[in-house]
Amino acid sequence: DASDIEKGTYPHYMLKEIDEQPAVMRKIIQMYQNEQGQLAIDSEIINAVKNSDRIYIIAAGTSYHAGLVGKQLIEKMAKIPVEVHISSEFGYNMPLLSEKPLFIFISQSGETADSRAVLVQVKEMGYPSLTITNVPGSTLSREADYTLLLHAGPEIAVASTKAYTAQIAVLAILAEVTAKSRGMEVGFDLTQELGLVANAMDVLCDSKELFEVMAREFFAVTRNAFFIGRGIDFYVGLEGALKLKEISYIQAEGFAGGELKHGTIALIEEGTPVIALATQESVNLSIRGNVKEVVARGANPCIISMKGLNMDEDSFVIPEVHELLTPLISVVPLQLLAYYAALHRGCDVDKPRNLAKSVTVE
Ligand code: G6P
Repeated sequence: DASDIEKGTYPHYMLKEIDEQPAVMRKIIQMYQNEQGQLAIDSEIINAVKNSDRIYIIAAGTSYHAGLVGKQLIEKMAKIPVEVHISSEFGYNMPLLSEKPLFIFISQSGETADSRAVLVQVKEMGYPSLTITNVPGSTLSREADYTLLLHAGPEIAVASTKAYTAQIAVLAILAEVTAKSRGMEVGFDLTQELGLVANAMDVLCDSKELFEVMAREFFAVTRNAFFIGRGIDFYVGLEGALKLKEISYIQAEGFAGGELKHGTIALIEEGTPVIALATQESVNLSIRGNVKEVVARGANPCIISMKGLNMDEDSFVIPEVHELLTPLISVVPLQLLAYYAALHRGCDVDKPRNLAKSVTVE
């Protein structure tokens, strides 16, 4: 119950939950380790994943954005094709399914009605299902065949933060354990890399004053904002835009860097904030090309890059982590920027207008 959980010295649950992310990472590593210190997941679940020829991830809101990152992780590490769908669309717009689908429901609350409607449908069709949720005993957990828990602790703020990073971490572990059990080498030690992620998150959480200043510079008066990235950075940009919209009411959109020029660049005016993510070596130069295009039209650029890929003009440099795990780190500045933007604009951070923590109606 929300009233039972103390904010302690924090002014808002959202800030507390952002700060809890390093501890949640460490907790997840611990909870998903076997006695030999290796990452492990119940073999029934791993068999269900291995036996499927295509995974369908179903989710809403922030959990959908975590699903997009999860697709990359599962496809790159475990080499199983993955589709990611918005739950409210899936029911009446069902894609042609593969022969042996596995449905993965990602839901912080485990109560989202749109997702539950899909679960009911796929169960009737006889397909296996796995719920990844923060709430043991929640509807989606009880009704699916299998459950993986986030171990993030209660999330009270309407804007989801620690659940998003927990979802990505658990999806990474699922991908890794599946890959290993298929006899594949993932090429890095996920336990160790997640530990580095937790340390990097600590560094970011200790840089709050900087984000408060940046939020004032970029968001104090603006009407709109754009988040751009390529590949995995594009998906994180979608989440950054959602965070900003939810709590500061600034109209914000995430775009694939190369897609801007096909329409949206028309909206760039003198001073329009464009937040660009540059954490991927393969697209570092092209995303910077996109920044130049918007700057030429007057945009106020905020480049958040990863150490090793950074350049002089960047606004903030995040610590280096494995290239598949950058969303766990790059989202933290975006969460903090949204938080301070809302604060500067006098918005109710934890209880934004028109939104509910879990939406139990379709
Ligand atoms: C609501 C919340 C969002 C959340 C979405 C999905 O709209 O306001 O923050 O991402 O539901 O919630 P779930 O509990 O299924 O992850």
